[in-house]
Amino acid sequence: MGLKDTHGRKINYLRLSVTDRCNLRCFYCMPHEGVPDVGHSGILSFEELQMIAECSVGLGIEKIRITGGEPTVRAGLVGFLTKLSAIPGLRHLALTTNGLLLEQMVADLYRAGVQRLNVSLDSLNPQRFKEITRGGELNKVLAGLDAAVAAGFPPPKINVVIMRGINDGEVLDFAELTRSRGCSVRFIEYMPVVKEDGWQRLCFSGQEVLQRIREQHPLEPVNKGDFAGPSQDYRIPGAAGSIGIITAVSGHFCVDCNRIRVTARGQAKGCLFSDEKVDLLPFLRPPDCQALCSALQRIVASKPEGHGIRCGEYEHSNFSMAQVGG
Ligand code: GTP
Ligand code: 5AD
Ligand code: SF4
Repeated sequence: MGLKDTHGRKINYLRLSVTDRCNLRCFYCMPHEGVPDVGHSGILSFEELQMIAECSVGLGIEKIRITGGEPTVRAGLVGFLTKLSAIPGLRHLALTTNGLLLEQMVADLYRAGVQRLNVSLDSLNPQRFKEITRGGELNKVLAGLDAAVAAGFPPPKINVVIMRGINDGEVLDFAELTRSRGCSVRFIEYMPVVKEDGWQRLCFSGQEVLQRIREQHPLEPVNKGDFAGPSQDYRIPGAAGSIGIITAVSGHFCVDCNRIRVTARGQAKGCLFSDEKVDLLPFLRPPDCQALCSALQRIVASKPEGHGIRCGEYEHSNFSMAQVGG
């Protein structure tokens, strides 16, 4: 079977957000005050999330990435992941985290069947890290990266949101991590989701990142693997990890998009930036598997061909990334 959208794209990847809360407040992602509290019943239960995952896999989803907010802050996550990883037909289970709680949780995440971790890390300078995250401790994230490898994970992929005048001076330091830690590092263009006047000044393009690196190192292209995401990847010859650029603003990758999203509040979205949503709650409370499958198929069918965000032509979205899960 499998899922195809109306633009001929194979959809086999679900980003499933388990919470919109976070233990950090990165200024480009979360408003200072956090996201509005909707109480327990406003957030999908693990049983409901499991049902969405099972229906999705039944329809043709092969990879699930758990997102947030910050997924590790949700109590009971490990038990949920253990059940999720046992779904027949699910080939890949991954998780995106800020890494703050990894040191204490990562062995359990590994045992639960998570196969890969992506860690968000925007500065290797403790003070700058604290400023970007509004209070985070860099050392904890670095300890989490070490603990992940000690627990048996491949070196986590590092996500760097690259911003002019903020952390663009660290491009080469991050590139070095592909040799020193064997991590793959992806530089993500800043996307305007939180209202930030004059966000265009923060835009630092993927091409500029590559240029900075090429001034010091040769780069060879890396072929896209199974379940390839939006990242375009390169490698410093001999480095264990790759260097990727995610050109969400300067070079759209929508033509290869393979994903849908479900938020922690039960809204399915075909595109990160689309206003089109399907509320899944009516098919979960009470549970109706067939209607839920139809709703997921509807969201695939309504996936837009692309988004319209370009540097200089866009105000900002009406959601925070933490509410959608990136
Ligand atoms: P892999 O599964 O390892 O390829 O990861 P991924 O890049 O799909 O997921 P991750 O959670 O690490 O997200 C990396 C960045 O890519 C985040 O900033 C996401 O918001 C962004 N991103 C992921 N999917 C999309 C998408 O469909 N559109 C846009 N514009 N950005 C996306
Ligand atoms: N622009 C680009 N990436 C963002 N992320 C969160 N907000 C933004 C934004 N405004 C990233 C996080 C994390 C991933 C899930 O999304 O840094 O790595
Ligand atoms: Fe939290 Fe991640 Fe958003 Fe930072 S980017 S506030 S770590 S959800």
